[in-house]
Amino acid sequence: LPRQVTIPVVVHVVLDDTSAVTHAQILSQLAVLNQDYNAANTDISQVPAVWQSLIGNTRINFCLAQRTPDNEPTNGIVKVKTATGKSFSISNGSPDVKYNSTGGSDAWDTHRYLNIWVTRLSGNFLGVAAPPGNGYPQEQEGVVVQYTGFGTTGSVGGTYNLGRTTTHEIGHFFGLKHIWADDSGGCTDDDGIADTPLQGDNSFGCPTFPKLDNCTNKAPGIMFMNYMDYSDDRCMHLFTAGQVDRMRYVLENTVASLMT
Ligand code: ARG
Ligand code: ZN
Ligand code: CA
Repeated sequence: LPRQVTIPVVVHVVLDDTSAVTHAQILSQLAVLNQDYNAANTDISQVPAVWQSLIGNTRINFCLAQRTPDNEPTNGIVKVKTATGKSFSISNGSPDVKYNSTGGSDAWDTHRYLNIWVTRLSGNFLGVAAPPGNGYPQEQEGVVVQYTGFGTTGSVGGTYNLGRTTTHEIGHFFGLKHIWADDSGGCTDDDGIADTPLQGDNSFGCPTFPKLDNCTNKAPGIMFMNYMDYSDDRCMHLFTAGQVDRMRYVLENTVASLMT
């Protein structure tokens, strides 16, 4: 197993009513991350028996930062009030939410902190990632999450209420592609991970196992309960060992300074 590491997190709440995302809601999201990234989620038993042996454990922990970049004590939460009804687009990784000058909140050194912006995203999008090494300006690296899909309490609602959007976006941050590889049903391109089954398109809702598709047409079928699919939160349960290898590789080679 890889070495247990802890990553300091800063959560930027950028909303017209910043009280809509409470400290408790933020802590509920950190708890989900620490479970999901350590294969300690209570629903992991719902991974079908054939795939139990593929379950990966990143041994990454996340904690709210205790010091600011200037070494002042902090609770790791920054709140920025926006104009009433303000929302941000997910295009290009949602840059506007990442700068004070455009109504957002400036990043803390993205190679010392994992920056999570929680905001109102236009178009009901759930989230977007700007992973390191993907051509984004360094100060934009991090993830942006819709405030109604963040954590497990408070302003969450609907079927994205178990914190899995943030689990998914941080998967992108650490170099994971969608499990179906965004190729609109194609079966040649895939996610580049050897132990995830080929999958044509994204899943939605809560499929019943086994589910076959055009790319994997025999049992056990597609891995719709993977965090990098689009199933509902209550139906997402694992990263594979191959996905964990990719994430640890990116962590240790691209953003090693995040590890404490
Ligand atoms: N649509 C978002 C993305 O592609 C996140 C989807 C998260 N899915 C979920 N069940 N929480 O990055
Ligand atoms: Zn995604
Ligand atoms: Ca595909």
